[in-house]
Amino acid sequence: MTSEVGRFPGNFIWGAATAAYQIEGAIDEDGKGKSIWDIFSHTPGKIEHGDTGDIACDHYHRWQEDIALMRQLHLDAYRFSIAWPRILPRGRGAVNQAGLDFYSRLVDGLLEAGITPFVTLYHWDLPQALQDEGDGWQRRGIIEDFVQYTDIVTRRLGDRVKQWTTFNEPCVFTWGGYVFGEDAPGWRKSPRAALTALHHVFLAHGAAAQVIRTNVADSQVGIVLDINVAEPASAASEDIAAAYRFDGYQNRWFLDALLRGEYPSDMLELFASELPEIRAGDMQQMCVPLDYLGINTYRRSVIAQGNELAPVNYRRVQPPGEYTHIGWEVYPKGIYDILKYVHKGYKPAKLYITENGAAFIDEVSADGRIHDERRVAYLREYLSYVQRAMSEGVPVAGYFVWSLMDNFEWAVGRDKRFGIIYVDYPTQQRIIKDSGYFYAQLIAHNR
Ligand code: NOJ
Repeated sequence: MTSEVGRFPGNFIWGAATAAYQIEGAIDEDGKGKSIWDIFSHTPGKIEHGDTGDIACDHYHRWQEDIALMRQLHLDAYRFSIAWPRILPRGRGAVNQAGLDFYSRLVDGLLEAGITPFVTLYHWDLPQALQDEGDGWQRRGIIEDFVQYTDIVTRRLGDRVKQWTTFNEPCVFTWGGYVFGEDAPGWRKSPRAALTALHHVFLAHGAAAQVIRTNVADSQVGIVLDINVAEPASAASEDIAAAYRFDGYQNRWFLDALLRGEYPSDMLELFASELPEIRAGDMQQMCVPLDYLGINTYRRSVIAQGNELAPVNYRRVQPPGEYTHIGWEVYPKGIYDILKYVHKGYKPAKLYITENGAAFIDEVSADGRIHDERRVAYLREYLSYVQRAMSEGVPVAGYFVWSLMDNFEWAVGRDKRFGIIYVDYPTQQRIIKDSGYFYAQLIAHNR
């Protein structure tokens, strides 16, 4: 495999992605309510170095400067999320116009710069008021709350925003939030809590998709999943079975529900004592037609039988090779494998890579620049494999690098830098990294 990036189709969309809590800061300005991440990040011991998103990249105040940088990078599109508690500080009911105004100005600014907004409605920052009521996503009534929020946002922005994502990585915020304790709200409960939350998320997705289509002319509606091919660590039948179980709970649970309207039968059996209440009509509601499926992918999962998460009972194996600062293996072919897996198994009409990127230790050199060669190599190699998948018929319509800029990387804090723009947190100065210049060149020449 050569790592030269060849030519992409002329209409290929080049973007960069962020999420509200990771970049905005201004956590209690202009009427914003508290989110579960405001509370979780202030809980001692939850976040490395005691970091929080209180200020993050101060994007709430610096959004114009940030759009100017996007322009310098020649981005076609910018994927960002809306903070639900800015719009509905109590989760439902009274609307905070100042919150809507912020996103409306941002959208206008992007469009003036010739950049297409891709909006994600939910990137993990649930209003705390809804968490306090019935444990957030555990309560079935939250579906209506999400629908109300979607209705308000799409009515306000739908004249200008056409690209809508309901949820970002449901796997992470449900299993991470309710079972592994690593994400807000930070519980360590049994799998039933994650599966119940997910059931409500999928139903909220289905209901919200209808609302978006009603409110927004020419809308494109999708959802973003984190999918990683699970490879058995050995040819032993226990490892093969463990990898298949891992694939079931991490990948097929989502793809089967959302694209086929069913939960995988082996998983229904495995989690038989942990299942949520599934009512008549639920599976049809979640399986709405998608205009696109977004895939976030960073690494592969090499899986052996182990003690992790009964009854899945797996263990991750770290093959020798290069690892990023967050401990994820650099494995460019993984992006090809995942595209092929999804295309072959589910045939979504259109795919976007909605996130891909790498955290490395970046330093400002004496010349004032950030020479992040490893990130440049990472992007080049992963993109070559995207291209290979496309040449074999996988309908990939665009690629969004994670991330536009260094930001608050959830439980591992601010020093895991994923940006193609460096952020000096004490001064909030932004510096385009070499990877940013590389990306800008790539976009300019479409290769
Ligand atoms: C997935 C998430 O969507 C994003 O918020 C996170 O920062 C990146 N991956 C990197 O972990």
